[in-house]
Amino acid sequence: MTTSALTTFLNCFADALDRDARTVSRSHAVRLRRIAEHLPPVNDVPQSRVPIQATCEVELAGYSAQSPLALALAALLPAIHMTRSKSYLANPPSSDFGENYGYGVICGPDNGPPALIKDEEIAFGLMFLGPETHYPLHHHPADELYYTVTGPSFWRASDADWDMRGIDETIHHVPWLPHATLSADRPLVLLYVWEGDLETDAAFIPDVLTAKAALLSEGVDTK
Ligand SMILES: [Fe+2]
Repeated sequence: MTTSALTTFLNCFADALDRDARTVSRSHAVRLRRIAEHLPPVNDVPQSRVPIQATCEVELAGYSAQSPLALALAALLPAIHMTRSKSYLANPPSSDFGENYGYGVICGPDNGPPALIKDEEIAFGLMFLGPETHYPLHHHPADELYYTVTGPSFWRASDADWDMRGIDETIHHVPWLPHATLSADRPLVLLYVWEGDLETDAAFIPDVLTAKAALLSEGVDTK
């Protein structure tokens, strides 16, 4: 059951990435199809859910009629071990962040969270954000591609302003590019692909833009 759901998901994700013209998207699509054709053993991962999961599952179900990828992800979801970063929970960027975020690894290296299939060169999975949740500026050495299964959502990189993105869009972050995500007034379901350095976790970094906005709102001259 998991094997067929996984194969369907991999092909749907590859189809979605193939609709993006960027080389990185096409390259990931080729790799996903290759994994689907030569599926490695599927691990029986322990059941694990996150607090925001039920809310995000309802949102995802709302896209199933229009999106084969959303349908395939919903079918695979019960087999995925959902988790939260220990370092994020130990030092959350906001008091309610831990209740509003979670991720699950579909494919990844041995030393990460339980993954359905193992791969030392590429990692991919899904991420949940609750409504109006700010995943603040962070960076990591891995090259990262996000795919918006639901939406809308807001994205920014470096010191650029927020950019609104709809559904079925890809957002690419080259290694070490500072980036942040903000969900709108609905739960958000994203897919991600990491390539390169899969060992080093993401780390939050100081956000000059947010700090300036806070100072301006307090009437402080930031010039
Ligand atoms: Fe990232």
